[in-house]
Amino acid sequence: MIKTINVAQTADELALDQGTVRRRIKSGELPTLKAGRNSVITTTALEYYKFTNEHKITLESLKTQAKILSFVNHKGGCSKTTTAYTIAALLQKFGNKVLLVDLDPQGNSTQSVLEPLVNEDGITLPFEKTIKDLLLYRKENGDVGINRIKEVIQPSKFDFDCIPCDLSLNSIMPDLESSSFKEVILKELLNEISGEYDYIILDTPPTLGFSVISALTASDYVSIVSLAEAFSLLGVEQTVNLINSVKSQNSVLANPREMKILGIIISKAEMNTNISRHFVAELGSFANERSINIYTDEIIPKTTKIPETQATGELITDVDPKADAALSYFNIAMLIDIAVKKDRIKEKLS
Ligand SMILES: Nc1ncnc2c1ncn2[C@@H]1O[C@H](COP(=O)(O)OP(=O)(O)OP(=O)(O)O)[C@@H](O)[C@H]1O
Ligand SMILES: [Mg+2]
Repeated sequence: MIKTINVAQTADELALDQGTVRRRIKSGELPTLKAGRNSVITTTALEYYKFTNEHKITLESLKTQAKILSFVNHKGGCSKTTTAYTIAALLQKFGNKVLLVDLDPQGNSTQSVLEPLVNEDGITLPFEKTIKDLLLYRKENGDVGINRIKEVIQPSKFDFDCIPCDLSLNSIMPDLESSSFKEVILKELLNEISGEYDYIILDTPPTLGFSVISALTASDYVSIVSLAEAFSLLGVEQTVNLINSVKSQNSVLANPREMKILGIIISKAEMNTNISRHFVAELGSFANERSINIYTDEIIPKTTKIPETQATGELITDVDPKADAALSYFNIAMLIDIAVKKDRIKEKLS
């Protein structure tokens, strides 16, 4: 369970007075979740504040250049979509410019973050253009051009931008897969807009197929989202194998990317049951043996609040910021942002 701290404790920890802490919260330098008039603060938020404060000048001097982060697991229903858009919203809230790209023909990210298009008769209409149109254009004509890409980008309810997806993506798959440079079509498309964003987040479908391979080929970072139940370990293992095989393929492509696994995120855990605890321990050993990070202090519990917020089109971090699931997402997003920014600083200095 993640502990929260109050303003007085925060002031002590940061050796600041309480008024200054309040001003840092207001300016967003110290990330918090809002609970009515109060702010929810975690120790990870202090870590985030200290890191960004220490490297303020270097971070401000970094040019906007998107890092691409995929959320993957070929097993269905393990919270990839929920995690992708919640983390996207938090990264945007921390001051990053974020684009979420839905790569799943189920379109769950699209449905979760975009207001539906509804005609006068109350009928929901498909988005006029989706990721399918961009991929097809790129495959057939090369450069898509920033203006054509911007026509497809939609503003989401949660401040970040989104490229929608729907079932029609399936219809172009045979066409895309017949292309000789099929794996790099998405990567090249995203390269065209990488100067506009700090993060491009990819929500992927529950397969080990072409869409996921394309997402991994395009990615700088990947997070594996897993349940803590039977077969989870097998799913994670197969996903890690796929990541490694894409990594070795990437290294033979021109302009290879050094893709990093940011960590394994465990979702829908019921830590009061032996079975969840058993599978969390299994995932932990698997990760440790391979030196893969695992967010064991930030496990996302199973809670009806997540499907409830999805039904109302809201974010758990806004609706119930003190809920364990909200705090876990809040801390994971800050840990991701710190890890990526550390790498960006290293890149700049090298
Ligand atoms: N922490 C949670 N507690 C309870 N339910 C959750 C939690 N996280 C997600 N869910 C629910 O689980 C279902 C699957 O979540 P989600 O769509 O995010 O998974 P997914 O991995 O993207 O699925 P798919 O493989 O189909 O793309 C949804 O109904 C969602 O509301
Ligand atoms: Mg999904």
